[in-house]
Amino acid sequence: MAYTYPKSVRIVEMSPRDGLQNIKTNVPTEVKIELINKLYDTGIKDIEIASFVSPKWTPQMADAAEILQQLKQPENTSHVVLTPNMRGFDRAIESGAKEVAIFAAASETFSQKNTNCTIDESLERFVPIMEKANKLGIRVRGYTSCVLGCPYEGDVDVAVVVKVTKALIDMGCYEVSLGDTVGLGTPVKARLMMDAITKEVPGNKLGLHFHDTRGQALANTLACLEYGIASIDSSVAGLGGCPYAPGASGNVSTEDVVYMLDGMGIETGINLEKLAAVGHYITEKIGCCNNSKIGAVYK
Ligand code: HMG
Ligand code: MG
Repeated sequence: MAYTYPKSVRIVEMSPRDGLQNIKTNVPTEVKIELINKLYDTGIKDIEIASFVSPKWTPQMADAAEILQQLKQPENTSHVVLTPNMRGFDRAIESGAKEVAIFAAASETFSQKNTNCTIDESLERFVPIMEKANKLGIRVRGYTSCVLGCPYEGDVDVAVVVKVTKALIDMGCYEVSLGDTVGLGTPVKARLMMDAITKEVPGNKLGLHFHDTRGQALANTLACLEYGIASIDSSVAGLGGCPYAPGASGNVSTEDVVYMLDGMGIETGINLEKLAAVGHYITEKIGCCNNSKIGAVYK
């Protein structure tokens, strides 16, 4: 049987943003910076380092500007920051951001709960951001949340997933990451979603952003890898979860993804042993569980 897996995959590390945003006790800025530096030292090139959301909504991300300003970015790496609106975009640019991510959802209820607006309003919000980003030469990544189900509405219409994702690409996002926000998906469902979406958007403009709430994220990742996927979002130690998605647990663990890809001969450029050590470092620092299976092997 012929497999058509990619030769290499770009890992977009989520732990400093998705991984920490839902932690209730304040994680000191210097710990976040140390985490990011240690992640770069593993060979990871792309890290979502913070979000410029409203600090009233997500207090853990209130120090995004300090993080961006204090970090020394290694060459040939990319720092992404999440921006929900023009206020967040302007704050990010003032702090020196060169790449931002905007986020919309395929569920009306989640859109309201997470960003206090309808899906259409969120897309309208992004148009002037894209125009400004174009003028300033800022790269913009997009997210579609709830692609395999919604914590409030349950099943989500795949036509809406396609519509939102295509809208983000059409407005200029170089890539859209598909969020299974609360890990409701299973492999065949994930493939059906990819079948529909890749009719409109090529796989090399898509990323996978699967949360592992029900232990399906790695299986879903594998199911989608044959679609020419450009990148996989993951979090060291399986940290993560959206504060406005009840029941959400962490992203798929980066250690587990890298182990699987290594075994399949798919390059990531990441040193697994160093990565596992970073997972132990951050979980010990913030006093929470390490949810990575491979992390446990390297303990
Ligand atoms: P809103 O309350 O409708 O905003 O929130 P507003 O425009 O009415 O402003 C209210 C106040 O917030 C004002 O301050 C604004 O200045 C301030 P006040 O006058 O009351 O003092 N404000 C801001 N301050 C700093 N930075 C900003 C900003 N915007 C407004 N950017 C808003 C709308 C979108 C801001 C809010 O809903 C929000 O911040 N939402 C983000 C919530 C969040 O952090 N969610 C998690 C990230 S998304 C995620 O995890 C999913 C993902 O991982 C993919 C997946 O898993 O599916 C990406
Ligand atoms: Mg997420």
